[in-house]
Amino acid sequence: MSRVAATFLLALSLAGCATTDDEAITLSPAAGAGRDVARSNGCAACHGANGQGGVGPAFVGLYRSDRELIDGSIVVADSDYLYESITQPGAKLVAGYRGRMPSNNLDDAQIASITAWIEELGTP
Ligand code: HEC
Repeated sequence: MSRVAATFLLALSLAGCATTDDEAITLSPAAGAGRDVARSNGCAACHGANGQGGVGPAFVGLYRSDRELIDGSIVVADSDYLYESITQPGAKLVAGYRGRMPSNNLDDAQIASITAWIEELGTP
């Protein structure tokens, strides 16, 4: 990895830990669009305006992390998992959350957009 890239990644991770301000993480246009879709479709109410989490799990650090489900099994939060979690909120329930996620009417383009945002919010 180039030094510039390493410095950029370090800056990203520091910014992600330190604050949830809008300006803290510089998002690509695709990821920024995903964040806006999440904000305008109610996702932010539970997952945070910047993906920091709340009633629902954080999106920051979610991508490719291990998720423990209520049946005790572990799945990896890859893009298929994210797609399923958004289109069928009840299909795989993450352990440790009391609230239930409501269904939504996002189309595939909107889901791809949100997924791009989640990916950019980083791996654990
Ligand atoms: C009323 C609160 C609520 C809203 C609104 C909501 N969610 Fe969730 N979401 C949850 C909870 C609670 C979970 C964890 C339990 C589960 O697996 O369903 C979750 C899980 C998820 C997961 C899997 C996360 C993980 O840690 O594995 C994704 C992805 C997700 N939501 C995306 C969305 C998107 C996109 C929207 C907007 C269309 C949305 N959610 C709206 C509460 C919510």
